[in-house]
Amino acid sequence: MMSRTLAQADAEVAEIIQNELERQQNTLMLIPSENYASRAVMAAAGSVMTNKYAEGYPGKRYYNGCMYYDEIENLARDRAKSLFRADHANVQPHTGTSANMAAYYGLLKPGDRMLAMKIEHGGHLSHGMKINFSGQQYEAHFYGLSATSDQLDYDEIREQAKQVKPRLIVAGASAYPRAIDFRQFKEIADEVGAYCMADIAHIVGLVAAGAHPDPVPICDVVTSTTHKTLRGPRGALILCKAEHAKKIDRAVFPGVQAGPLMHIIAAKAVAFKEAQSLFFREYQRQILRNAQALAASLLEEGFRLVTGGTDNHLMLVDLRNKDITGKLAADLMEEAGMVVNKNLIPGDELSPDETSGIRPGTPGMTTRGMQEPEMHTIGKLITRVIHEGRTNEKVLAEVRKEVQELCDAFPIHEHL
Ligand SMILES: Cc1ncc(COP(=O)(O)O)c(C=O)c1O
Repeated sequence: MMSRTLAQADAEVAEIIQNELERQQNTLMLIPSENYASRAVMAAAGSVMTNKYAEGYPGKRYYNGCMYYDEIENLARDRAKSLFRADHANVQPHTGTSANMAAYYGLLKPGDRMLAMKIEHGGHLSHGMKINFSGQQYEAHFYGLSATSDQLDYDEIREQAKQVKPRLIVAGASAYPRAIDFRQFKEIADEVGAYCMADIAHIVGLVAAGAHPDPVPICDVVTSTTHKTLRGPRGALILCKAEHAKKIDRAVFPGVQAGPLMHIIAAKAVAFKEAQSLFFREYQRQILRNAQALAASLLEEGFRLVTGGTDNHLMLVDLRNKDITGKLAADLMEEAGMVVNKNLIPGDELSPDETSGIRPGTPGMTTRGMQEPEMHTIGKLITRVIHEGRTNEKVLAEVRKEVQELCDAFPIHEHL
């Protein structure tokens, strides 16, 4: 019973996983918050480390038998600290949202004011939205993007911070294509006596590789996911200054979580090691070059990009001049084998279900080994789908064929 393979033990689940593998192999994944974890990361995540409770921290566990769990968590913490040159790392948060929850829980009291980016302008659910715990536990106020540039305007944020007097300012976004100046955020936070927290869930790989301004030496606390540009397992981490270490650790456990996912912590350790390599630094730089190439290809075709371009791994395409919603564009692209997500754009009059934009990104395609010429081709394929896909099914089929050729030329997980 115990030693049967998945296929022998549960053919139904094995078949669904096989189908998903084929979907991943045979589509172009343009979602900037997704990636393909390495075989080594997946091996650690699928290991016997899933079997044990290890509540607590290395050297202070509430269960016996944790010697290897202490070793693995210490390794993951040390690697994270060295990768990001951080005073302290907590590698237990299950997801980006639980990392944010723990950071707020550690630094704030219920009802305290926080200031973060509006979701419609690129912020995240866990940055104070009313439908999320963060908007219910804390008094959330929001800054937006400048009406003229669609970019962060630090003078406007400063004025708002002076009025709101938040206890915490969140710098970070889910859909912002420009570099974030964490130094400016920290200065504003200092002026109003607030903590400065950076949420680098999206740009973490770029930060690790020195390809985006680094908040770690600047901000009080930095939260991040590990599964996006960092290319690790689905999970998160918190980095902070030594003075906040105790508060953050207590907030994660026992504050908002109990037993850590030790198999995922093992996989995070693997990902942190991978991220220390020169190969990874070059990978992140290629993500940026690919984003520039994809943006240029779309601009050539008359697409409007919010802010006019990108400094990072993603771009926000404003589809209003193409007379198509984000939802329809993303659905047509999926029919043609390209997976992208619809996204609100600043000033969007459509609902989050419809939206006027899409948010393509390059981390996944770069993992597959694609470079600027392929980005140019993908830009043309996106254009054909959006210009002609609604009325011409033949075009969708032709694009699907070209997508398949690209997928075949740049395979993932050939060993599986
Ligand atoms: C900026 C930001 N923070 C937090 C999260 C939450 O991560 P998770 O989905 O792992 O909870 C995301 C996810 O997209 C994000 O973009």
